[in-house]
Amino acid sequence: MTTEFAPPVLELRKATKVYAGVPAIEEVDFSLRSGEIHAIVGENGAGKSTMTKVMAGVVNLSSGEMLVDGHNVSPKTPNDALRIGIAMVFQETSLVPTMTVAQNLFLGQERYFNRLRGIYIEAQQFMQSLQFDVDPTAVVSLLGAAKKQMVEIARAVLHNAKVIIFDEPTASLTPEEKKYFFDLVLDLKKRGVSIIFISHALEEALLVSDRITILRDGKRVVTDDKDTFDRARIVKEMVGRDLSQTHYGQRKTTVRQQGKRVLSVQNLRMAAMVKNNSLSVFAGQVTGVFGLVGSGRTETFKVVAGIIKRDFMHGGEILLNDRPVRYLVPAPAVRDGVAYVTEDRKLEGFFETKSIAGNIYLGLLAKLRGKRDLVSRREEGESGEHWIKRLNIRAISKDVKAIELSGGNQQKVVISKSLIQDPELIIFDEPTRGVDVGAIAEIHQLINQLADEGKAVVVISSYLPEIMSLSDRILVQRMGKVVEEFSSPEATEEKIMYAAIH
Ligand SMILES: Nc1ncnc2c1ncn2[C@@H]1O[C@H](COP(=O)(O)OP(=O)(O)OP(=O)(O)O)[C@@H](O)[C@H]1O
Ligand SMILES: [Mg+2]
Repeated sequence: MTTEFAPPVLELRKATKVYAGVPAIEEVDFSLRSGEIHAIVGENGAGKSTMTKVMAGVVNLSSGEMLVDGHNVSPKTPNDALRIGIAMVFQETSLVPTMTVAQNLFLGQERYFNRLRGIYIEAQQFMQSLQFDVDPTAVVSLLGAAKKQMVEIARAVLHNAKVIIFDEPTASLTPEEKKYFFDLVLDLKKRGVSIIFISHALEEALLVSDRITILRDGKRVVTDDKDTFDRARIVKEMVGRDLSQTHYGQRKTTVRQQGKRVLSVQNLRMAAMVKNNSLSVFAGQVTGVFGLVGSGRTETFKVVAGIIKRDFMHGGEILLNDRPVRYLVPAPAVRDGVAYVTEDRKLEGFFETKSIAGNIYLGLLAKLRGKRDLVSRREEGESGEHWIKRLNIRAISKDVKAIELSGGNQQKVVISKSLIQDPELIIFDEPTRGVDVGAIAEIHQLINQLADEGKAVVVISSYLPEIMSLSDRILVQRMGKVVEEFSSPEATEEKIMYAAIH
């Protein structure tokens, strides 16, 4: 139980962080009670990551103060923060990808150097004590999102963290992994750990937290007990207006006319992931693709777009406008009008140190490669301005580096980079992951607009309401192939789920 009168474990007073003259957070007061789960919500760019990075020593305050157990502290590095008991699990993982699980766990500790073999046994026992099913000898880059997260959590527990901060921990987890994650968080709470947890999934915040803090434009709007909130109140406080009209989950009532067949996949086979998969995608429609993780959705469409690096395709045929194609790299697919908007923006989406405009322009250059090699600064600037406006990317200017954007706005850059190629077939893989409710509405509107313009649009999503509200037809994949197809009026969540599981 949390006690209201115990001193807060962690406190911010008038915390302000300014980037290039613009405050990312401004005079924020925040307190974390001992043993509580405290959710932080807010739109993309509201300052959630910045506020917690301050606590974790990643970012230093411009003004204001931070207290731990009533004492003034100012951790300058994540290691400083860890020494005073604060650990952060980042939006993008901070593990060393080329090292093993055990090496990551004991990184920076002396015994790491002394007993290289011993650490594996120790790590094994430690992971077991947490009931984490992760092989300590596995190289981190080969682990899935959930396992990487377990390693990060294990590392925090190993360092006796009394505060653990999670920045969008569930964004890349499957529904089963999410459930497991929440059990874990409740278990950490039982161990006396205080938890801060950032999420765009408001249902999650309502489910697990004790209290909720809402940020808007870098300022704290409210902190209150979970029970005083419902979804509508959270959304309203987040955006400062009533969004209930636009937020998604509404059933789609009309179906667009099916245009020509743009893509046809026949009996595609690929390693263990795709098994005789056949499907078609038509112009002028949104085709939703649903399936549990491991159902081969992403793999199928990555092969179509030439994104899968090695040639994993073992058989079958891919036809683009009735012409057989087989792309081993993305460039020729892009030139033929196929765009794949990635779910993994960090890995495949953009260059961190390039500007917004520069990143978007790269999309155009990729399309024109060979035809025209001239790079025009003016064209880059103009197209940057255009897409910033069209997708409502929140940044001070087109010259801001991608790494300086909030997560949701980075996602919009990734989308722009593909749309500037004016593709005929656009594959969106989890297009609204990590994107706030307002921006979800904007991206959905854009997807609808593309289909209205006659494009063939594919939306791969693990979130049923998203599939339901966007799709004209819905394909359900299970164990490597499409097992069921619905036109949107006949689909229900139950039918889709049933097809995905049974
Ligand atoms: N390194 C940086 N340099 C300049 N500006 C930055 C930097 N990091 C963040 N910002 C700016 O600070 C503001 C708050 O960003 P922050 O990442 O904290 O938002 P967020 O609430 O976590 O958003 P999201 O939900 O999209 O992750 C944004 O306007 C962002 O562009
Ligand atoms: Mg963030």
